[in-house]
Amino acid sequence: MDKNKTYELLLKQVESLIEGEDNPVGQLANAAAQLQETMGWWWTGFYIVKGDTLQLGPFQGPIACYNIKRGRGVCGTAWQENRTIVVPDVEQFPGHIACSSLSRSEIVVPLRDKQGQVTAVLDIDSKDLATFDDTDAQWLEQICRVIERHVNLP
Ligand code: SME
Repeated sequence: MDKNKTYELLLKQVESLIEGEDNPVGQLANAAAQLQETMGWWWTGFYIVKGDTLQLGPFQGPIACYNIKRGRGVCGTAWQENRTIVVPDVEQFPGHIACSSLSRSEIVVPLRDKQGQVTAVLDIDSKDLATFDDTDAQWLEQICRVIERHVNLP
C-alpha cells in the first residue's frame, strides 16, 4: 500500500480508537500503539508540557528520557518554535538528545490547545536515516489535530 493510503486508513483508525473516551493516558497510549504497530517505527510516543519541561508520556518502544527542557533536543525545539521538525540524520541536529543510540532519524509534531499553545509533542524515531518527509509531516499533523480534538490534555 502506498504511504498516503496507509496514513488515510491510520487517521481513521486513530480517531475511532480514541473518540468518546475520557482518559488521556489511555488514549495517548492507544494512539502510540496504533501508529507504531502500523508503521513499524523504532519509538513512537508523547512528551507532555509541564511548566518549562516536556515530561515523558505514553509511548511504544525502548525506555526513554523522562524530562526535556524547552528549546533542548528535537522535542524541546519543536515546542519552542511551535512547529513540526523533520530530522533526516539525528547526528546532524545540534543538541539532539539520544535516548537510544540506534535512533537515526526523527520527526516531532506539536499538539496545541485552542489558543495555539503547545501542550504536548508527538515524537517518532526510526533506526534508518531519512525515514520521514513532508508527506509524513502532513499526515502526522492531521493525526495530531484528531488527537487534540478527542484527548483532554492538561
Ligand atoms: N531524540 C529526542 C529525545 C526523545 S527520544 O528520542 C525518545 C530529542 O532530541 O528531543
